[in-house]
Amino acid sequence: MTAITEELRKDIGQADIVALATVNKEGEPNVVPIFFWKVLSGDELLLVDIFMKKTVDNIRVNPLVAISAWYKDSSGNSIGYQFKGEARIETQGRIFAEGVTMVKDAEPELAPKGAVIVKVNSVYSVSPGPDAGKQLS
Ligand SMILES: Cc1cc2nc3c(=O)[nH]c(=O)nc-3n(C[C@H](O)[C@H](O)[C@H](O)COP(=O)(O)O)c2cc1C
Repeated sequence: MTAITEELRKDIGQADIVALATVNKEGEPNVVPIFFWKVLSGDELLLVDIFMKKTVDNIRVNPLVAISAWYKDSSGNSIGYQFKGEARIETQGRIFAEGVTMVKDAEPELAPKGAVIVKVNSVYSVSPGPDAGKQLS
């Protein structure tokens, strides 16, 4: 399934920071801002783990995550999306290397520890207005 269409990919590329929500085994939610992220494919997002602690602990016990990404369009309207899916962590290989390059190009002194790869199962609009909360795919 292509949850992340080309149009959506262009849209969310305008979001600088995304919010990544996880949950621990007791059901306690945790949400963190993440700057180093990108769309990997039609159904995968990459978020780079540099400083994550509770976030990766949570993913190891429960891979279900939610992500919100938002930006303001050229008319000043707030546009936002919510992604839900399953995360896995890779600490070597091609995708991890891609994450390392992304971080090192911007901040060479940072040392990424892993790649959080989210297989997106559903996408919702969170833009304010009548379609807020509507499932898009
Ligand atoms: C604006 C902003 C951007 C951040 N970007 C990243 C990032 O790209 N990768 C990362 O691992 N941590 C990033 N952090 C740190 C995490 O938000 C958070 O502090 C870290 O995951 C530890 O929290 P946790 O124990 O809940 O996982 C960022 C923090 C801020 C305030």
